[in-house]
Amino acid sequence: MEIRYFKRFRMDLALAGRDFSHAPLPPGYRLCSWHQGGIAGHAAAKFRSFHDQIDADVFPCLGDEQGCYRLMTEIAGKPGFLPTATWLLAWQEAATAPLDYIGTIQGIWDRGGFGSIQNLGVAPEHRGQGLGEILLRRALAGFQQEGLGRVFLEVTAENLVAIHLYEQLGFSRVRTSYKAVDAEPVLK
Ligand SMILES: CC(C)(COP(=O)(O)OP(=O)(O)OC[C@H]1O[C@@H](n2cnc3c(N)ncnc32)[C@H](O)[C@@H]1OP(=O)(O)O)[C@@H](O)C(=O)NCCC(=O)NCCS
Repeated sequence: MEIRYFKRFRMDLALAGRDFSHAPLPPGYRLCSWHQGGIAGHAAAKFRSFHDQIDADVFPCLGDEQGCYRLMTEIAGKPGFLPTATWLLAWQEAATAPLDYIGTIQGIWDRGGFGSIQNLGVAPEHRGQGLGEILLRRALAGFQQEGLGRVFLEVTAENLVAIHLYEQLGFSRVRTSYKAVDAEPVLK
């Protein structure tokens, strides 16, 4: 079995004194609380956002729908799961059209007492309109509301768009690690 190593950064942010209000959503989009979207909504948005991205190589469960559903079930079942820092973004083409779940972020209060951000994602056809930033700001405001002082996340070093977004909101890199992943042998 071949092993691939992915460089990852841990980034963190002190929340005190920061304002995480956000720009208005573009027309057709709405933020849904945890109770509106639930596991199925977040799993669907997660799959659409991650299945063909670098993180699906790092965490193969992100590459298939059932894997995303299992991961969401696991996150929602953690003792520190924070509905206030967990948001789903829905898009509706017309008033009578069904809601389409296109963006997700989840928050956990981890055992060290920090906030932990999980799986920020926006479906490819909806990117570049500020929606990722809105989801992140909404989650950070949720952590603040819960009284947490510091939040961290982990990001793959190749993911320059995500790192740019995190740095823009004030996150800084505090640690580098390498995640080993079993890679399927390439058949020639
Ligand atoms: C990271 C991600 C959530 C950003 O979502 P988004 O809705 O496109 O983000 P925004 O529109 O809020 O853009 C945030 C910043 O990234 C920039 N950006 C967005 N797409 C970009 C691209 N393709 N190339 C370069 N910069 C880009 C924006 O210009 C903006 O920076 P600016 O304010 O300086 O202009 C999205 O790319 C994604 O879902 N990626 C796949 C999943 C993933 O890797 N998530 C991160 C896990 S750690």
